[in-house]
Amino acid sequence: MKFFLDTANVEEIRQATSLGLIDGVTTNPSLVAKEGRPFDELIHEICEVVQGPVSAEVVSTEANAMIKEGRSLAEIHEHVVVKCPLIREGLKATRVLADEGIRVNVTLCFSPTQALLAAKAGAAYISPFVGRLDDISYDGMDLIGQILAIYQNYGFPTEVLVASIRHPKHILDAALMGADVATLPYKAFDAMFNHPLTDKGLAAFLADWEEARETVAPEAVEA
Ligand code: G3P
Repeated sequence: MKFFLDTANVEEIRQATSLGLIDGVTTNPSLVAKEGRPFDELIHEICEVVQGPVSAEVVSTEANAMIKEGRSLAEIHEHVVVKCPLIREGLKATRVLADEGIRVNVTLCFSPTQALLAAKAGAAYISPFVGRLDDISYDGMDLIGQILAIYQNYGFPTEVLVASIRHPKHILDAALMGADVATLPYKAFDAMFNHPLTDKGLAAFLADWEEARETVAPEAVEA
């Protein structure tokens, strides 16, 4: 399972990648807007830091304009994956860009039949938004299961990238279902490390070691 970070914040990306656990990054216009930096420069820097796929989203809504934008995004860096919204024009652009060898992440997916269309259009990734479905009282993870089953039935190579993750339970469910990628907000990534029994257990190990230190590590005591 690949972990992408769902942020455009370079500091968060640096911190997470330094742990050696991050395979890529996804951004969207809202995340980029928060950073208040020139778009191309920011995407280039993220690509250099992560050394893996970095999704950068088009903001046009007409296919020809999306294709033009997608081509110029792909020129920023070899790691760029062009993100297109799941609308008719977005899938039209996806087909053209994919045929040119540009990887496309089709985003804003909320139904299994939308995901089927994206796979047929040649998307490299499909991004179903689980958290936003949960927010309106649907089960976002049901959608992941349905998409995985459809893609498996027909051998589509499109990778299922679980997006709009809110907490480690989403990540657990995605991993149990065999989703290809989870894109994680920094907070959810950070939360995965924590368990009170780990902290309690480590504190007890270190306290026991300290108490017996003269016996178990006499050299260290002398030094
Ligand atoms: O990047 C797309 C997606 O992950 C957005 O998540 O939290 O805005 O629903 P959220």
